[in-house]
Amino acid sequence: MLKVDENNHIFHLFNEKISLVIQILDNHFVVNRYFGRRIPFFAGSNTLDDVHHAFSVFQDDDRYSATNLSLEYSYENFGDYRITSSSIRDVNGYPIGNYEFLSYDTTPIFPKGMPHVRNNEDTTYLNLELTDKETKTNLILHYLLVNDAPILTKWVTMKNQGDRPVTIDKLDSLQVDISRDDYKLLSFSGAHAKEFQPQITQIENNIQEISSNRGVSSPQHQPFVALIDKDTSLDYGEYYASSFIWSGDFKAQVEKDQYNHLRMTMGVNADTLKWELSPKETFETPQAIICYGKNGLNGISKNFQTFFKKHLLENRLVKSPLIPLNTWEASYFGVNADLCKELMPKAAETGINLFVIDDGWFINRNSEKGQLGDWKIDKEKFPNGLEEISRLAHTNNMKFGLWIEPEMITTNSDLFKKHPDWVMNNPKRPHLLSRNQLILDLSNNKVQKYLIETISNLVKENHIDYIKWDFNRQFAPTISQTAGSTEQETVDFKYIKGLYHVLERIRKINPDLIIENCASGGGRVDPGMLYYTDQTWISDLTDSVSRFRIISNMLMLYPLSVFSSHLSKSPNEQDGRMLPLNTRLLLSGIGSFGVELNLNEFNATELKKLKRFIKEYKTNYNLVHNGIALNMFCLTKDETKPIAILLSKENKYSLIYSYGKTDSVNIPKYLPLRYLEENKNYLLNGSQEISGVELNDAGLTIEPIKGDYQVKKWDVAEIKQK
Ligand code: DGJ
Repeated sequence: MLKVDENNHIFHLFNEKISLVIQILDNHFVVNRYFGRRIPFFAGSNTLDDVHHAFSVFQDDDRYSATNLSLEYSYENFGDYRITSSSIRDVNGYPIGNYEFLSYDTTPIFPKGMPHVRNNEDTTYLNLELTDKETKTNLILHYLLVNDAPILTKWVTMKNQGDRPVTIDKLDSLQVDISRDDYKLLSFSGAHAKEFQPQITQIENNIQEISSNRGVSSPQHQPFVALIDKDTSLDYGEYYASSFIWSGDFKAQVEKDQYNHLRMTMGVNADTLKWELSPKETFETPQAIICYGKNGLNGISKNFQTFFKKHLLENRLVKSPLIPLNTWEASYFGVNADLCKELMPKAAETGINLFVIDDGWFINRNSEKGQLGDWKIDKEKFPNGLEEISRLAHTNNMKFGLWIEPEMITTNSDLFKKHPDWVMNNPKRPHLLSRNQLILDLSNNKVQKYLIETISNLVKENHIDYIKWDFNRQFAPTISQTAGSTEQETVDFKYIKGLYHVLERIRKINPDLIIENCASGGGRVDPGMLYYTDQTWISDLTDSVSRFRIISNMLMLYPLSVFSSHLSKSPNEQDGRMLPLNTRLLLSGIGSFGVELNLNEFNATELKKLKRFIKEYKTNYNLVHNGIALNMFCLTKDETKPIAILLSKENKYSLIYSYGKTDSVNIPKYLPLRYLEENKNYLLNGSQEISGVELNDAGLTIEPIKGDYQVKKWDVAEIKQK
């Protein structure tokens, strides 16, 4: 909802949970008067500092100073000496900023050709249009508020209505200014096979940055940043948490200024962007999300999980489980028709209903040094083509899936020989190979068209139901051979939009095709990729204990349904950890469960266990795949500590407790379940009746155990009142 005070240019955007109050001052400062818990009306108790400002650059009217106000948007070179959300120059290279307010409207709108919050509910839009009369460029600040979440979406459009070009050096999607200083900074960093490690840092009088310049959102830094109360715990503490619906280079910054006020920004990484905006052209930024609350870390987690499920993801696996047997860790590049035929009946017998051939099925692909780009079947490995395997899967009542890495190419491929200018490369220097491969230039329309056709044909010809879309190297150099020299700093942005276009078209052409997002595991776990895909391979680390920890961190943002979680062998292929089958099953049984080992190596008892487990997983699918999952311990980087995750859906709960390293102190611990309904009674593990209050406060007994990395699970079901 929106209330506008036209006389004072005050806009009050609110829903049931939050309020944002914006005031336009002196017709050019877009000031944040309030952002927080919903207020019934805005009276202005927090008065503005409107005395004489000696250092204001607007000396004619120095009641306000750009560097002192809480602003919704800011411009470099106009007296706001903090990090600014924009930097724009005219044709002479002179800065533009200090835009004047023109008008507002409430038209529903979203950035074109980009993933965005789906407008499928009661929503309120506010678009504030500002103008620079001299260059005739207009800047529009967009706000989208859904009614059922304490979450706002912000983004920006720049329109050039003049007759000369302007240059965008920086155009962030979001700025949040807070006149308070008692916060810490929460973010997630990581590496390949160690994604999403939490970081909580002090905020001093300087600038902190979380960013990617790798062409992709990356496992190194997640496009997420949160200001959290310095005493935040699981359930208490104020926060302003922002996520970014974008899969390429991004930058989030936090500054504590001279007055100890905070500014937080989120946007496309300006270090790798420079956009010349020609007359009559428009530039739109991706959407950034900001969530406000006072209910601690699990408040952020619950809000984001619920919001993404409802307003961003379009997961086609919500209704029924798709449980893959993936060939990667079973045979790596050695996959062939005989192995598939051997594994398939065993897989079907256990209840697996998707057979996925991972890397290695196409010509000249016996190692990482093999060939990428042509996607022609290796007839030595598959003499009767993939069609035969696909048919066999379908007759076994399974779906058929295939791995591809569409954005990649190797120099020995036919595609490269035909189109050497389709790769991102400096034509005057040697190729920079990583995992022996180069990246196709998806900023080029011809490449996009080729990919849409090639993938759609592959899917059609082989009756493919699922693809695992992999991406195994990062950008270097980001150069389009078909773009002009002045356009090179637009390539990363155009690439990501090109990728979105390809994904959008492939989904349209193949409406039932399930797509799994993968980038060497969790190299592109971001809201942009999640918008187009059904699930994500979150890490190449298939050790179930470590992956459970990664999932527990990712839950800060993403719902269970996003995570692929496969049973792998022991000792684990990546870290050699040995774990019993029960442990591996229990810890893999949340999100999208699958199997990633050679079933021929399983004996009859193990196969039976797997079969029983899959049956149970299918029965509990609504809880373990579609539920909300919350952590029972605060975020930590300490790998030895236990992790406990409480899943909930409708009237069912499940607590999974991963003990971590064993403890020599041999006494029980108690874990309050916190989130059950207090006026209800529950049945614990199908036998004991306990009240919600008792389970919430007295909690479950965590018996001491001997030995590292053990796991226990409790089921809690509401007892229906007669
Ligand atoms: C990286 C992925 O994360 C793995 O699961 C596997 O598909 C390999 N690539 C194949 O090359």
